[in-house]
Amino acid sequence: MKKIVILFSGEGKNLHNIIDTLHPHQCEVVCAITNKARAKGLEGLDAKHIKSEILEHTNFSSRETYDAELVKLIQSYNPDLVVLAGFMRILTPIFTTNIKAINLHPSLLPKHKGANAIEDSFLSEDSIGGISVHFVNEELDGGQIIAQASFEKSENETLQSFTCKIKELEYQLLPQTIAEILYKL
Ligand code: GRF
Repeated sequence: MKKIVILFSGEGKNLHNIIDTLHPHQCEVVCAITNKARAKGLEGLDAKHIKSEILEHTNFSSRETYDAELVKLIQSYNPDLVVLAGFMRILTPIFTTNIKAINLHPSLLPKHKGANAIEDSFLSEDSIGGISVHFVNEELDGGQIIAQASFEKSENETLQSFTCKIKELEYQLLPQTIAEILYKL
């Protein structure tokens, strides 16, 4: 069975969706790691028998020292793939050169990189919205795109309805893409 580690920072809806969709029959989620001790996504992991680790970035003096420790922690689980699902950190080459990872981003990259992607694409002139799964490299939201999904903006679209459509697509595309990548390994 192929093993994955998932990194997250907040709600963890994608984290739990991946676990519910793929674990344990399509892959084994060997650990969920967060940089936030109070991340909501930590709730419910014990009940699902998923190991979790908290590695707070606030205890480190630089991005590099944090990433070095994170790489060590990830490697101790020996995963086939690392999945960033709402992991809100800019990563240094210490991470990107040592870890094979994919990231979920709520826009049609290369448009709307960064932390405000949903609002930026909603407010843009674009007639479609969408999401991307891409390999992680040293450029923020800049690695090779693996899969995308999109939808037409409706005439009476609100930020709330737009966000819901993004989330729905995320819950389908991310587990599907993980399964496809692992199948090819
Ligand atoms: C998702 O919208 C993802 O695209 C972005 O962060 C969000 C994480 O949400 N990178 P959640 O923590 O999975 O609920």
